[in-house]
Amino acid sequence: MATDQGSDRRAEHAPAPGEKPPAEVSVERVTHQDIPAICSLYKKVWDSEKGLPSELVKAWQPAPLEFTSWMEGVTYFAARRHGHLVGIVGCEPGHGTCRLVHLAVDPESRRHGVGTALLTAALDWARRSNVATVWTDPLARFQAAGSLFLKLSFAEAGRLRRHEWGEDVRLFERVL
Ligand SMILES: CC(C)(COP(=O)(O)OP(=O)(O)OC[C@H]1O[C@@H](n2cnc3c(N)ncnc32)[C@H](O)[C@@H]1OP(=O)(O)O)[C@@H](O)C(=O)NCCC(=O)NCCS
Repeated sequence: MATDQGSDRRAEHAPAPGEKPPAEVSVERVTHQDIPAICSLYKKVWDSEKGLPSELVKAWQPAPLEFTSWMEGVTYFAARRHGHLVGIVGCEPGHGTCRLVHLAVDPESRRHGVGTALLTAALDWARRSNVATVWTDPLARFQAAGSLFLKLSFAEAGRLRRHEWGEDVRLFERVL
């Protein structure tokens, strides 16, 4: 079950060294009203990534009802830039850790600090949830994601071969 820490949906920003949330980007907990925009964002993001396995593209483009079920046990944050929903990440707690899932930023809003703002919010949430580590397992082909995690002081912890629809994944962790 998702841990709902605090009544304020806004993410608290307490950046550690290397985390620089940009002023024009806001991050908040998602609400059910956000679901259509989130589903459109995932469709746009995964349609724009060439060469992905078709099973993966299908699995990562939820319909609104499917995304509602994704929200069971996962706390999602959405980023807005100039009022538009342009990014999303999920925080999935388990065994005293937090796994980051389904991170995606609109291709038209990349390299403007949106991913950084989302991960900063996720790390803040994890700290407030008293988890020991935050970890994630992006596809190895997503080099931008790897660079982002390393920039935010995640350590690369390993690699799983042909782990997800035949794709290698890299493992990253940040001990809090
Ligand atoms: C990975 C992703 C979320 C990054 O989002 P973003 O909003 O562009 O990230 P930021 O602007 O906060 O980038 C922060 C830092 O990450 C690194 N980075 C981000 N994109 C990069 C790229 N294309 N190449 C190299 N480094 C990159 C850089 O160090 C960057 O800092 P800089 O811009 O000052 O050089 C985005 O590229 C994305 O959605 N990719 C496809 C989906 C994906 O990979 N999801 C994660 C695994 S499922």
